Amino acid sequence: MFIQRCITPDCRADYKIDDRLYVCPRCGGLLDIERTGEIAFDPAALRELWRARLTSRDARDRSGVWRFREFLPFNDEDPIVTLAEGNTPLYDAPRSADYCGLRQLQLKHQGNNPTGSFKDTGMTVAVTQARKLGARLVACASTGNTAASLAAYAARANLVCAIIVPSGQVSHAKLAQALDYGAKVLEIDGNFDTCMSFIRELSEDSAVYLVNSINPFRIEGQKTVAFELAEQLEWRVPDHLVVPGGNLGNSSAFGKGFRELLQSGLIDRQPKITVVQAVGAAPFARLYSEHDDSNLINELDPKTLASAIKIGAPVSWRKALRAVHETGGSVITVTEQEIADAKAMIGRDGIGCEPASATTVAGMRKLVAEGVIKADETVVGVLTGHLLKDTDYVMGYHGNTLVGPDGEQIRGRFTNAPIQGQDLQDLQNES
Ligand code: F0G
Repeated sequence: MFIQRCITPDCRADYKIDDRLYVCPRCGGLLDIERTGEIAFDPAALRELWRARLTSRDARDRSGVWRFREFLPFNDEDPIVTLAEGNTPLYDAPRSADYCGLRQLQLKHQGNNPTGSFKDTGMTVAVTQARKLGARLVACASTGNTAASLAAYAARANLVCAIIVPSGQVSHAKLAQALDYGAKVLEIDGNFDTCMSFIRELSEDSAVYLVNSINPFRIEGQKTVAFELAEQLEWRVPDHLVVPGGNLGNSSAFGKGFRELLQSGLIDRQPKITVVQAVGAAPFARLYSEHDDSNLINELDPKTLASAIKIGAPVSWRKALRAVHETGGSVITVTEQEIADAKAMIGRDGIGCEPASATTVAGMRKLVAEGVIKADETVVGVLTGHLLKDTDYVMGYHGNTLVGPDGEQIRGRFTNAPIQGQDLQDLQNES
Protein backbone atom coordinates (compact mmCIF):
# COMPACT_ATOMS: atom_id res chain seq x y z
CA MET A 1 0.00 0.00 0.00
CA PHE A 2 1.12 3.52 -0.74
CA ILE A 3 0.18 6.86 0.81
CA GLN A 4 1.07 10.52 0.30
CA ARG A 5 2.94 12.05 3.22
CA CYS A 6 4.00 15.63 3.98
CA ILE A 7 7.78 16.02 4.11
CA THR A 8 7.70 18.84 6.70
CA PRO A 9 9.35 17.28 9.79
CA ASP A 10 6.87 18.60 12.35
CA CYS A 11 3.81 17.86 10.19
CA ARG A 12 4.23 14.50 8.42
CA ALA A 13 0.46 14.33 7.80
CA ASP A 14 -0.56 11.48 5.56
CA TYR A 15 -3.19 11.24 2.87
CA LYS A 16 -4.70 8.56 0.68
CA ILE A 17 -2.78 7.74 -2.45
CA ASP A 18 -5.66 8.81 -4.71
CA ASP A 19 -6.40 12.13 -2.97
CA ARG A 20 -5.92 14.79 -5.62
CA LEU A 21 -3.25 16.86 -3.88
CA TYR A 22 -0.10 18.75 -4.81
CA VAL A 23 0.94 20.06 -1.39
CA CYS A 24 -0.05 19.22 2.18
CA PRO A 25 -3.49 20.77 2.89
CA ARG A 26 -2.47 21.18 6.54
CA CYS A 27 0.88 23.00 6.28
CA GLY A 28 1.52 23.60 2.58
CA GLY A 29 4.60 21.33 2.55
CA LEU A 30 5.65 19.12 -0.36
CA LEU A 31 4.33 15.57 -0.49
CA ASP A 32 6.22 12.33 -0.86
CA ILE A 33 4.72 9.04 -1.94
CA GLU A 34 5.62 6.38 0.58
CA ARG A 35 4.98 2.71 1.04
CA THR A 36 3.19 1.74 4.26
CA GLY A 37 4.43 -1.30 6.12
CA GLU A 38 7.66 -3.13 5.64
CA ILE A 39 8.23 -5.26 2.58
CA ALA A 40 11.26 -7.51 2.61
CA PHE A 41 12.55 -7.43 -0.94
CA ASP A 42 14.88 -10.07 -2.24
CA PRO A 43 17.42 -7.92 -4.13
CA ALA A 44 18.75 -10.79 -6.24
CA ALA A 45 15.24 -11.86 -7.30
CA LEU A 46 14.26 -8.27 -8.15
CA ARG A 47 17.37 -7.73 -10.26
CA GLU A 48 16.66 -10.95 -12.11
CA LEU A 49 12.99 -10.04 -12.66
CA TRP A 50 13.90 -6.59 -14.03
CA ARG A 51 16.55 -8.07 -16.29
CA ALA A 52 14.13 -10.71 -17.65
CA ARG A 53 11.62 -7.98 -18.51
CA LEU A 54 14.14 -6.51 -20.95
CA THR A 55 13.31 -9.24 -23.44
CA SER A 56 9.53 -9.09 -22.90
CA ARG A 57 7.11 -7.57 -25.43
CA ASP A 58 4.66 -6.30 -22.79
CA ALA A 59 4.34 -2.48 -23.05
CA ARG A 60 4.91 -2.21 -19.30
CA ASP A 61 8.17 -4.10 -19.55
CA ARG A 62 9.38 -2.14 -22.56
CA SER A 63 9.15 1.08 -20.60
CA GLY A 64 12.28 1.93 -18.62
CA VAL A 65 9.96 3.35 -15.95
CA TRP A 66 7.27 0.66 -15.57
CA ARG A 67 9.85 -2.12 -15.71
CA PHE A 68 10.57 -1.13 -12.09
CA ARG A 69 6.86 -1.07 -11.17
CA GLU A 70 7.36 -2.87 -7.84
CA PHE A 71 8.38 0.60 -6.62
CA LEU A 72 5.51 2.53 -8.22
CA PRO A 73 2.19 3.28 -6.48
CA PHE A 74 -0.11 1.43 -8.89
CA ASN A 75 -1.80 -1.95 -9.25
CA ASP A 76 -1.23 -4.32 -12.12
CA GLU A 77 -4.78 -3.64 -13.42
CA ASP A 78 -4.25 0.12 -13.73
CA PRO A 79 -4.02 1.03 -17.44
CA ILE A 80 -0.80 2.91 -18.07
CA VAL A 81 -0.02 5.72 -20.51
CA THR A 82 3.37 5.00 -22.02
CA LEU A 83 5.51 5.98 -25.00
CA ALA A 84 8.27 3.47 -24.21
CA GLU A 85 10.17 6.06 -22.19
CA GLY A 86 13.40 5.43 -20.34
CA ASN A 87 15.95 2.79 -21.37
CA THR A 88 18.33 5.64 -22.13
CA PRO A 89 22.03 5.09 -22.84
CA LEU A 90 24.90 5.56 -20.43
CA TYR A 91 27.76 6.79 -22.59
CA ASP A 92 31.48 6.87 -21.94
CA ALA A 93 32.61 10.44 -22.64
CA PRO A 94 36.42 10.43 -22.94
CA ARG A 95 36.87 13.95 -24.33
CA SER A 96 34.59 15.45 -21.72
CA ALA A 97 36.43 13.42 -19.07
CA ASP A 98 39.73 14.84 -20.23
CA TYR A 99 38.24 18.35 -20.29
CA CYS A 100 37.14 17.93 -16.67
CA GLY A 101 40.44 16.39 -15.54
CA LEU A 102 38.80 13.03 -14.84
CA ARG A 103 40.17 9.62 -15.72
CA GLN A 104 36.72 8.45 -16.72
CA LEU A 105 33.29 10.00 -17.10
CA GLN A 106 29.92 8.57 -18.04
CA LEU A 107 26.93 10.56 -19.21
CA LYS A 108 23.38 9.28 -18.80
CA HIS A 109 21.49 10.76 -21.73
CA GLN A 110 17.91 11.48 -20.78
CA GLY A 111 17.57 13.41 -24.03
CA ASN A 112 17.10 10.01 -25.68
CA ASN A 113 13.53 9.83 -24.40
CA PRO A 114 10.49 9.94 -26.72
CA THR A 115 10.10 13.72 -26.59
CA GLY A 116 13.81 14.40 -26.13
CA SER A 117 14.03 15.12 -22.41
CA PHE A 118 13.99 13.49 -18.97
CA LYS A 119 10.47 14.79 -18.36
CA ASP A 120 8.97 11.74 -20.09
CA THR A 121 9.99 9.42 -17.25
CA GLY A 122 7.87 11.48 -14.86
CA MET A 123 5.07 12.26 -17.26
CA THR A 124 4.19 8.63 -17.98
CA VAL A 125 3.38 8.22 -14.29
CA ALA A 126 1.67 11.60 -13.73
CA VAL A 127 -0.58 11.21 -16.78
CA THR A 128 -1.40 7.63 -15.80
CA GLN A 129 -2.50 9.00 -12.41
CA ALA A 130 -4.48 11.78 -14.13
CA ARG A 131 -6.43 9.18 -16.06
CA LYS A 132 -6.93 7.06 -12.97
CA LEU A 133 -8.39 10.07 -11.16
CA GLY A 134 -10.74 10.73 -14.07
CA ALA A 135 -9.20 14.13 -14.89
CA ARG A 136 -10.22 15.67 -18.20
CA LEU A 137 -7.70 18.47 -18.34
CA VAL A 138 -3.99 18.24 -17.52
CA ALA A 139 -1.89 21.36 -17.21
CA CYS A 140 1.61 22.65 -16.51
CA ALA A 141 3.81 25.72 -16.52
CA SER A 142 6.99 25.18 -18.45
CA THR A 143 10.26 26.43 -19.87
CA GLY A 144 9.52 24.06 -22.77
CA ASN A 145 10.42 20.45 -22.07
CA THR A 146 7.65 19.74 -19.57
CA ALA A 147 5.27 21.28 -22.10
CA ALA A 148 6.47 19.05 -24.94
CA SER A 149 6.34 15.97 -22.77
CA LEU A 150 2.93 16.61 -21.24
CA ALA A 151 1.46 17.46 -24.63
CA ALA A 152 2.60 14.09 -26.00
CA TYR A 153 1.37 11.99 -23.07
CA ALA A 154 -1.93 13.88 -22.88
CA ALA A 155 -2.47 13.18 -26.57
CA ARG A 156 -1.82 9.47 -25.98
CA ALA A 157 -4.28 9.50 -23.06
CA ASN A 158 -6.87 11.52 -24.96
CA LEU A 159 -6.87 14.29 -22.37
CA VAL A 160 -7.16 18.02 -22.95
CA CYS A 161 -3.80 19.66 -22.33
CA ALA A 162 -3.19 23.28 -21.30
CA ILE A 163 0.28 24.71 -21.09
CA ILE A 164 1.51 28.06 -19.84
CA VAL A 165 4.89 29.30 -21.06
CA PRO A 166 6.80 32.57 -20.77
CA SER A 167 6.29 34.43 -24.02
CA GLY A 168 9.36 34.56 -26.28
CA GLN A 169 11.52 32.53 -23.86
CA VAL A 170 10.92 28.99 -25.03
CA SER A 171 12.97 27.41 -27.80
CA HIS A 172 11.11 26.90 -31.06
CA ALA A 173 11.77 23.18 -31.05
CA LYS A 174 10.02 22.69 -27.71
CA LEU A 175 7.11 24.95 -28.60
CA ALA A 176 6.74 23.19 -31.95
CA GLN A 177 6.45 19.84 -30.19
CA ALA A 178 3.70 21.05 -27.85
CA LEU A 179 1.74 22.55 -30.75
CA ASP A 180 2.08 19.47 -32.92
CA TYR A 181 0.89 17.20 -30.11
CA GLY A 182 -2.24 19.35 -29.93
CA ALA A 183 -1.79 21.19 -26.62
CA LYS A 184 -3.44 24.54 -25.96
CA VAL A 185 -0.47 26.82 -25.41
CA LEU A 186 -0.89 30.06 -23.50
CA GLU A 187 2.04 32.47 -23.75
CA ILE A 188 2.17 35.04 -20.99
CA ASP A 189 4.36 38.02 -20.12
CA GLY A 190 6.83 37.23 -17.37
CA ASN A 191 9.11 34.31 -16.66
CA PHE A 192 8.65 30.66 -15.66
CA ASP A 193 7.94 31.65 -12.06
CA THR A 194 5.07 33.88 -13.18
CA CYS A 195 3.67 30.94 -15.18
CA MET A 196 4.06 28.65 -12.17
CA SER A 197 2.08 30.87 -9.80
CA PHE A 198 -0.56 31.33 -12.46
CA ILE A 199 -0.97 27.59 -12.99
CA ARG A 200 -1.06 26.84 -9.26
CA GLU A 201 -4.00 29.18 -8.94
CA LEU A 202 -5.67 27.57 -11.92
CA SER A 203 -5.23 24.09 -10.48
CA GLU A 204 -7.33 24.95 -7.45
CA ASP A 205 -10.17 24.22 -9.87
CA SER A 206 -10.82 20.51 -9.44
CA ALA A 207 -11.26 20.02 -13.19
CA VAL A 208 -7.57 20.76 -13.73
CA TYR A 209 -4.84 18.25 -12.90
CA LEU A 210 -1.44 19.86 -12.43
CA VAL A 211 1.57 17.82 -13.53
CA ASN A 212 4.56 20.03 -12.76
CA SER A 213 7.12 18.31 -10.56
CA ILE A 214 5.37 19.64 -7.45
CA ASN A 215 3.06 16.69 -8.22
CA PRO A 216 4.62 13.74 -6.34
CA PHE A 217 3.65 11.27 -9.09
CA ARG A 218 6.10 13.02 -11.43
CA ILE A 219 8.88 12.35 -8.94
CA GLU A 220 7.88 8.68 -8.71
CA GLY A 221 8.47 8.25 -12.44
CA GLN A 222 11.70 10.21 -12.48
CA LYS A 223 13.14 8.27 -9.52
CA THR A 224 13.29 5.14 -11.70
CA VAL A 225 16.19 6.72 -13.62
CA ALA A 226 18.27 5.99 -10.51
CA PHE A 227 17.17 2.34 -10.77
CA GLU A 228 18.06 2.13 -14.45
CA LEU A 229 21.42 3.81 -13.88
CA ALA A 230 22.30 1.50 -10.97
CA GLU A 231 21.38 -1.49 -13.12
CA GLN A 232 23.57 -0.22 -15.99
CA LEU A 233 26.46 0.02 -13.53
CA GLU A 234 25.91 -3.57 -12.31
CA TRP A 235 24.49 -2.12 -9.07
CA ARG A 236 27.75 -0.35 -8.18
CA VAL A 237 26.86 3.31 -7.80
CA PRO A 238 29.30 6.05 -8.82
CA ASP A 239 31.04 8.25 -6.27
CA HIS A 240 29.34 11.34 -7.73
CA LEU A 241 26.16 12.06 -9.63
CA VAL A 242 25.96 15.55 -11.14
CA VAL A 243 22.65 17.03 -12.31
CA PRO A 244 21.43 20.45 -13.52
CA GLY A 245 19.10 22.34 -11.20
CA GLY A 246 16.07 24.37 -12.29
CA ASN A 247 12.77 23.70 -10.55
CA LEU A 248 14.66 20.94 -8.68
CA GLY A 249 12.36 18.00 -9.41
CA ASN A 250 15.10 15.98 -11.07
CA SER A 251 17.57 16.18 -8.19
CA SER A 252 14.74 15.41 -5.74
CA ALA A 253 13.81 12.34 -7.77
CA PHE A 254 17.38 11.01 -7.90
CA GLY A 255 17.61 11.48 -4.13
CA LYS A 256 14.41 9.49 -3.59
CA GLY A 257 15.40 6.79 -6.07
CA PHE A 258 18.80 6.13 -4.54
CA ARG A 259 17.38 6.27 -1.01
CA GLU A 260 14.81 3.59 -1.87
CA LEU A 261 17.45 1.43 -3.56
CA LEU A 262 19.62 1.63 -0.47
CA GLN A 263 16.74 0.90 1.90
CA SER A 264 15.80 -2.15 -0.18
CA GLY A 265 19.32 -3.57 -0.20
CA LEU A 266 19.74 -3.13 -3.96
CA ILE A 267 22.78 -0.88 -3.50
CA ASP A 268 25.13 -0.46 -0.57
CA ARG A 269 25.67 3.31 -0.66
CA GLN A 270 24.36 6.45 -2.41
CA PRO A 271 26.27 8.63 -4.86
CA LYS A 272 27.01 12.17 -3.73
CA ILE A 273 24.43 14.26 -5.58
CA THR A 274 25.68 17.63 -6.80
CA VAL A 275 23.27 20.13 -8.31
CA VAL A 276 24.60 22.71 -10.78
CA GLN A 277 22.83 26.00 -11.54
CA ALA A 278 23.59 28.78 -13.98
CA VAL A 279 25.13 31.68 -12.07
CA GLY A 280 22.34 34.10 -13.06
CA ALA A 281 19.56 31.76 -11.95
CA ALA A 282 20.94 30.25 -8.77
CA PRO A 283 18.66 30.73 -5.75
CA PHE A 284 19.31 27.15 -4.58
CA ALA A 285 23.09 27.54 -4.78
CA ARG A 286 22.82 30.74 -2.77
CA LEU A 287 20.73 29.06 -0.11
CA TYR A 288 23.27 26.25 0.08
CA SER A 289 26.35 28.43 0.26
CA GLU A 290 24.80 30.69 2.89
CA HIS A 291 23.98 27.64 5.05
CA ASP A 292 20.46 28.89 5.55
CA ASP A 293 18.16 25.93 5.22
CA SER A 294 15.12 27.70 6.56
CA ASN A 295 13.96 29.60 3.54
CA LEU A 296 14.84 30.00 -0.08
CA ILE A 297 14.97 33.59 -1.28
CA ASN A 298 13.57 33.78 -4.76
CA GLU A 299 15.65 35.21 -7.57
CA LEU A 300 13.28 37.81 -8.97
CA ASP A 301 14.98 38.23 -12.31
CA PRO A 302 16.67 34.94 -13.20
CA LYS A 303 18.98 35.18 -16.20
CA THR A 304 20.63 32.52 -18.33
CA LEU A 305 20.82 31.47 -21.96
CA ALA A 306 20.10 27.94 -20.72
CA SER A 307 16.39 28.77 -20.92
CA ALA A 308 15.29 25.40 -19.50
CA ILE A 309 16.68 26.35 -16.08
CA LYS A 310 15.87 30.05 -16.09
CA ILE A 311 13.97 29.71 -12.83
CA GLY A 312 14.09 31.94 -9.75
CA ALA A 313 11.60 30.24 -7.41
CA PRO A 314 12.23 26.47 -7.60
CA VAL A 315 9.27 24.62 -6.16
CA SER A 316 11.01 21.42 -4.99
CA TRP A 317 13.98 22.97 -3.18
CA ARG A 318 13.28 21.31 0.17
CA LYS A 319 13.32 17.85 -1.42
CA ALA A 320 16.45 18.64 -3.41
CA LEU A 321 18.19 19.95 -0.30
CA ARG A 322 17.32 16.74 1.49
CA ALA A 323 18.94 14.77 -1.35
CA VAL A 324 22.10 16.87 -1.29
CA HIS A 325 22.45 16.69 2.51
CA GLU A 326 21.62 13.00 2.73
CA THR A 327 24.20 12.03 0.13
CA GLY A 328 26.95 14.49 1.07
CA GLY A 329 26.82 16.30 -2.26
CA SER A 330 26.82 20.02 -2.94
CA VAL A 331 25.27 22.83 -4.96
CA ILE A 332 27.40 25.00 -7.24
CA THR A 333 27.10 27.53 -10.04
CA VAL A 334 28.73 27.85 -13.46
CA THR A 335 29.00 30.80 -15.82
CA GLU A 336 27.44 31.20 -19.26
CA GLN A 337 30.88 30.80 -20.83
CA GLU A 338 31.53 27.59 -18.89
CA ILE A 339 28.15 26.15 -19.91
CA ALA A 340 28.72 26.99 -23.57
CA ASP A 341 32.20 25.45 -23.77
CA ALA A 342 31.19 22.34 -21.82
CA LYS A 343 28.26 21.89 -24.19
CA ALA A 344 30.54 22.00 -27.21
CA MET A 345 32.83 19.44 -25.56
CA ILE A 346 29.90 17.07 -24.97
CA GLY A 347 29.18 17.50 -28.68
CA ARG A 348 32.77 16.53 -29.52
CA ASP A 349 32.17 13.25 -27.73
CA GLY A 350 29.50 12.59 -30.36
CA ILE A 351 26.80 12.92 -27.74
CA GLY A 352 25.53 16.49 -27.59
CA CYS A 353 22.85 17.99 -25.34
CA GLU A 354 20.90 21.18 -24.76
CA PRO A 355 22.52 24.06 -22.83
CA ALA A 356 20.96 23.32 -19.41
CA SER A 357 22.34 19.77 -19.50
CA ALA A 358 25.90 21.02 -20.05
CA THR A 359 25.94 22.63 -16.59
CA THR A 360 26.86 19.11 -15.44
CA VAL A 361 30.18 18.86 -17.29
CA ALA A 362 30.94 22.53 -16.57
CA GLY A 363 30.25 21.83 -12.90
CA MET A 364 32.41 18.72 -12.79
CA ARG A 365 35.33 20.59 -14.29
CA LYS A 366 35.04 23.15 -11.54
CA LEU A 367 34.74 20.52 -8.80
CA VAL A 368 37.80 18.65 -10.06
CA ALA A 369 39.78 21.91 -10.17
CA GLU A 370 38.70 22.63 -6.60
CA GLY A 371 39.68 19.11 -5.45
CA VAL A 372 36.10 18.21 -4.45
CA ILE A 373 36.02 15.45 -7.08
CA LYS A 374 39.24 13.44 -7.39
CA ALA A 375 40.52 12.50 -10.83
CA ASP A 376 40.12 8.77 -10.23
CA GLU A 377 36.65 8.88 -8.70
CA THR A 378 33.68 7.49 -10.60
CA VAL A 379 31.39 10.21 -11.92
CA VAL A 380 28.11 10.18 -13.83
CA GLY A 381 26.58 13.32 -15.30
CA VAL A 382 22.93 13.49 -16.26
CA LEU A 383 22.18 15.06 -19.63
CA THR A 384 18.58 16.17 -19.42
CA GLY A 385 17.73 17.27 -22.97
CA HIS A 386 18.61 16.55 -26.59
CA LEU A 387 21.02 18.65 -28.67
CA LEU A 388 18.24 19.50 -31.16
CA LYS A 389 16.09 21.15 -28.49
CA ASP A 390 17.88 24.47 -28.96
CA THR A 391 19.69 24.81 -32.27
CA ASP A 392 19.67 28.64 -32.20
CA TYR A 393 22.06 28.43 -29.28
CA VAL A 394 24.30 25.96 -31.09
CA MET A 395 24.50 28.09 -34.23
CA GLY A 396 25.17 31.17 -32.12
CA TYR A 397 28.03 29.44 -30.31
CA HIS A 398 29.72 28.08 -33.40
CA GLY A 399 29.18 31.32 -35.31
CA ASN A 400 30.60 33.33 -32.39
CA THR A 401 27.45 35.41 -32.11
CA LEU A 402 26.24 34.14 -28.76
CA VAL A 403 25.54 37.01 -26.38
CA GLY A 404 25.04 36.30 -22.68
CA PRO A 405 22.11 37.62 -20.60
CA ASP A 406 24.12 40.65 -19.44
CA GLY A 407 25.12 41.58 -22.97
CA GLU A 408 28.48 39.85 -22.70
CA GLN A 409 29.90 38.19 -25.81
CA ILE A 410 30.47 34.45 -25.39
CA ARG A 411 33.82 33.63 -27.03
CA GLY A 412 33.60 29.90 -27.65
CA ARG A 413 36.82 27.93 -27.19
CA PHE A 414 35.59 25.13 -29.42
CA THR A 415 33.73 26.94 -32.17
CA ASN A 416 33.24 25.21 -35.49
CA ALA A 417 31.72 27.66 -37.96
CA PRO A 418 30.60 26.45 -41.38
CA ILE A 419 33.25 27.07 -44.05
CA GLN A 420 32.01 29.40 -46.78
CA GLY A 421 32.99 29.21 -50.44
CA GLN A 422 35.82 26.75 -50.17
CA ASP A 423 36.28 23.71 -52.32
CA LEU A 424 36.97 20.14 -51.36
CA GLN A 425 40.71 20.70 -51.54
CA ASP A 426 40.51 23.27 -48.74
CA LEU A 427 38.55 20.85 -46.57
CA GLN A 428 41.17 18.17 -47.22
CA ASN A 429 43.88 20.60 -46.20
CA GLU A 430 42.00 21.23 -42.98
CA SER A 431 42.00 17.56 -42.00
N1 F0G B 1 17.43 20.39 -17.95
C1 F0G B 1 16.43 20.56 -18.82
C2 F0G B 1 16.71 20.29 -20.25
C3 F0G B 1 15.17 21.00 -18.38
O1 F0G B 1 14.19 21.16 -19.26
C4 F0G B 1 14.98 21.28 -17.02
C5 F0G B 1 13.70 21.78 -16.52
C6 F0G B 1 16.05 21.06 -16.15
C7 F0G B 1 17.25 20.62 -16.64
C8 F0G B 1 15.94 21.30 -14.69
O2 F0G B 1 15.28 20.23 -14.07
O3 F0G B 1 13.51 21.54 -13.00
O4 F0G B 1 13.89 19.17 -12.39
O5 F0G B 1 15.54 20.91 -11.74
N2 F0G B 1 12.73 22.11 -17.25
C9 F0G B 1 11.40 22.47 -16.77
C10 F0G B 1 10.44 22.61 -17.93
C11 F0G B 1 11.36 23.55 -15.80
O6 F0G B 1 9.43 23.32 -17.80
O7 F0G B 1 10.67 22.00 -18.96
P1 F0G B 1 14.51 20.47 -12.72
